[in-house]
Amino acid sequence: MTAPLLSMEGISKAYPGVQALSGVELALARGEVLALLGENGAGKSTLMKILGGAVRPDAGTIRVDGVARAIRSPQEALRLGIAVIHQEFNLVPALGAAENVFLGQEIARGLPGLGVVDRRAQRARAGAVLARLGADFDPDTECRRLSVAGQQLVEIAKALVSGARILVMDEPSAALSAPEVAALHGVIRELKRDGTGIVYVSHRLDEIAAVCDRVAVLRDGRNAGGAAVAAVGRGDLIRMMVGRELTEEFPRRTTAPGEARLVVEGLSRGTAVRGVSFEARRGEVLAITGLVGAGRTELLRLLFGADRPDSGTIRLDGREIRPRSPRQAIAAGIGLLPEDRKLQGLVLDLSLRENFALPNLARLSRAGVVQGALERRECGGFVERLRIRTPRQEALVRGLSGGNQQKVVLAKWLARDCEVLLFDEPTRGVDVGAKVEIYRLINDLAAAGKVVVMVSSDLPEVLGMADRIVVMRGGRVTGRIDDMARATQESVMEAAVS
Ligand SMILES: Nc1ncnc2c1ncn2[C@@H]1O[C@H](COP(=O)(O)OP(=O)(O)OP(=O)(O)O)[C@@H](O)[C@H]1O
Ligand SMILES: [Mg+2]
Repeated sequence: MTAPLLSMEGISKAYPGVQALSGVELALARGEVLALLGENGAGKSTLMKILGGAVRPDAGTIRVDGVARAIRSPQEALRLGIAVIHQEFNLVPALGAAENVFLGQEIARGLPGLGVVDRRAQRARAGAVLARLGADFDPDTECRRLSVAGQQLVEIAKALVSGARILVMDEPSAALSAPEVAALHGVIRELKRDGTGIVYVSHRLDEIAAVCDRVAVLRDGRNAGGAAVAAVGRGDLIRMMVGRELTEEFPRRTTAPGEARLVVEGLSRGTAVRGVSFEARRGEVLAITGLVGAGRTELLRLLFGADRPDSGTIRLDGREIRPRSPRQAIAAGIGLLPEDRKLQGLVLDLSLRENFALPNLARLSRAGVVQGALERRECGGFVERLRIRTPRQEALVRGLSGGNQQKVVLAKWLARDCEVLLFDEPTRGVDVGAKVEIYRLINDLAAAGKVVVMVSSDLPEVLGMADRIVVMRGGRVTGRIDDMARATQESVMEAAVS
């Protein structure tokens, strides 16, 4: 009997105010893909950071091929054949994609030890791996110029070239759309055949059945069950994760859409957005979907005044608006929940409550003084409703789990009284239970007559939430679905790729 590829035994870790992990067990066989599931803040990333040597556990043992190992740094993990694709990116913005892929694992040329980096070899290898993942950019592109999806592909490529036998993917697909996810799954199946063991963290449950063999669930930092994927349905997984039944994943709206409020005509900027026209009506949710790079985020930036259009008009309630900055857009009643929460959404070294209050200071103040009690009460309401897992409102946002950070960005904009809300991938990285609450809040906004525009790559979400769908490709609108009864994942995908 050979020892399992990996076993983690009795792993515990505490942070101030939070017991992130308590005696967690995890085993992984060669050639196995294990789905690690759990609500936001359940401890998935912490467990994987411990495996990858980025975080030291308070207790527990890690065995690789049956041998107990202390993993004190990411370098040690790599030497043991363990590579982790972290949920939060770790790229050097000013370096090219290929250089980032090989950072710390450079290909040397010439005599061993006289390390001259072989840039051509690196470029070729990185280019091949990126192409296999479906990337459409040059491997010399500086990472700061890449979209979130592009950066994600670079992170994945980094781990793939390391040749690890144990590969951890912490929400690798959150920023990707269907074709890139399919390409990633293709790569995973190949690795599996070569005997690589993979831990796959995802909140998109349809991916679990597609690529995983077994699931392990964490709840509140403890093991909460496991099963063979073939033996469990979606409902079982949700119950194991949230500890209760979810009656409806996409809550219904009862209001009927009214008149057009936001009317966009011929909006263009360079090649990113080309002659885009659409209208969003009172009381509806308009979804904009398409593949990564279709121009959806760029379109939202134009509406939010973050970029200026070359041509085209934006009208709100019949009046033309030309936001020249986000500040002006906000003054005109437009809010944007950005795709990249780290860069644009949050101040990591401020507390949850301070982040929440920032855009709402005017409303929370009287005669220039912030009403602390009001602020605490409102913030507390969102913490409860969105199930933000935090020891207290004063906790720094940096210490929150990925999904919980996303919820703080959301709360901050939901609390603001905007007439138009532009959501860019609002539920990225959010667990199923909290997603339903976010959908309810979006429905409340629609019911209150606000304009809700939602960019999403998550097709079940688009189909479950939208009243109408606009599909973009290459900066243009390539499809419109006004009758949701006729919409299917296939019809949407067809408009997105054809
Ligand atoms: N550096 C830190 N400082 C303080 N608390 C932390 C830190 N890192 C994690 N935590 C806490 O540990 C708990 C587990 O977080 P973790 O990131 O492991 O969750 P997760 O399961 O990966 O969630 P998500 O699905 O949102 O990514 C959370 O309560 C989180 O706030
Ligand atoms: Mg996480």
